[in-house]
Amino acid sequence: MPLKRLTVTAVRNLHPVTLHPSPRINIISGANGSGKTSLLEAIHILGLARSFRSTRLQPVIQHGQDACTVFAELVLSNGLACSIGITRGKQADYQIRIDGQTVRSTAQLAETLPLQLINPDSFRLLEGAPKQRRQYLDWGVFHVEHQFLPVWQRLQKSLKQRNSLLRRGRIQRSMLVPWETELVSAGERIDDFRRSYLLRLKPVFEEILARLLPLDDLTLSYYRGWDKERGLAQVLDDQFERDSQLGYTQSGPQRADLRLRVKGMNAVDILSRGQQKLVVCALKIAQGYLLRQLGASQESVFLVDDLPSELDERHRRALCSLLEDLQCQVFISCVDDQQMQDCWKNDTPLSMFHVEHGRIVQTE
Ligand SMILES: Nc1ncnc2c1ncn2[C@@H]1O[C@H](COP(=O)(O)OP(=O)(O)OP(=O)(O)O)[C@@H](O)[C@H]1O
Ligand SMILES: [Mg+2]
Repeated sequence: MPLKRLTVTAVRNLHPVTLHPSPRINIISGANGSGKTSLLEAIHILGLARSFRSTRLQPVIQHGQDACTVFAELVLSNGLACSIGITRGKQADYQIRIDGQTVRSTAQLAETLPLQLINPDSFRLLEGAPKQRRQYLDWGVFHVEHQFLPVWQRLQKSLKQRNSLLRRGRIQRSMLVPWETELVSAGERIDDFRRSYLLRLKPVFEEILARLLPLDDLTLSYYRGWDKERGLAQVLDDQFERDSQLGYTQSGPQRADLRLRVKGMNAVDILSRGQQKLVVCALKIAQGYLLRQLGASQESVFLVDDLPSELDERHRRALCSLLEDLQCQVFISCVDDQQMQDCWKNDTPLSMFHVEHGRIVQTE
């Protein structure tokens, strides 16, 4: 579901610009500090109402300006056109519009524009806390399972209530019952969603990884967040005393994780930086392929910041070929566009953009 027209105003050092990106591959080149990542950041804000560089949006607003705006016209998978826009002011106020209507939930934005980001921080998917991997998994579930969001919201609410009661100290076991009933019902459904999504993702991931680098002994497994042998209700019951002492719920779907291992050891402790980058790329690209296979309502848009770094020519080409076969819209930034030039088939729609001191010019 490509961006057909993109307008960016007052984002970091970028001059106001309207671009007509290719529905497939878009290469953004330029010197360090020219504004390449800022352009990807602008698209990210459009899809998720937040940056991938700072937790707050304030630093993204161009110095001396009161607000930044990103606006795009999209072509939906059903062929219809749609417009989305986001304006973020200095007072933490933001306005999201879809087809001219103000919307309150960023979930609607994410649903309209499923974004996948691959950047140097993506390594955190392997080395970081389980939360990163849960978010990765839930991104996919969210886009293929429409019931996911309401059930996930029920889970968050019941968990918050249970934890807040636990923190109060001496409480009656019975006070927790209504929240636990809700937690168990939502938690087990979330687990089902995650498990069946992963079952479909795994073979796609393995196939993609094999095209990028042969790592036969890499395994991807799912930990649901609580004991395999016992139901969630039983676990909550058994751990009540301990949970009360700790003031929070130790086990449950809020602890789920994906485990990547090579020869039984943590992949992150074994693989080189380049190999880790390729594994992360395979994980993210696999989600794009799966979404397509499952006929999700929208196709993903990929943002790949600094694609060539840490990859040799063979792996760079293998990655480009995967992104190309994905048939999604891809925005790739790089310092030197020479490295990215002859990686594509002749009939792949390709646009090249060059950035200089915040000014973006289409060169091809
Ligand atoms: N709020 C802001 N207003 C104006 N300029 C900003 C703002 N925030 C950052 N900048 C500047 O924007 C420029 C573009 O940064 P960006 O990270 O997009 O560059 P880049 O092309 O990705 O560079 P690199 O190749 O080093 O990754 C930097 O020079 C930075 O100092
Ligand atoms: Mg950059």
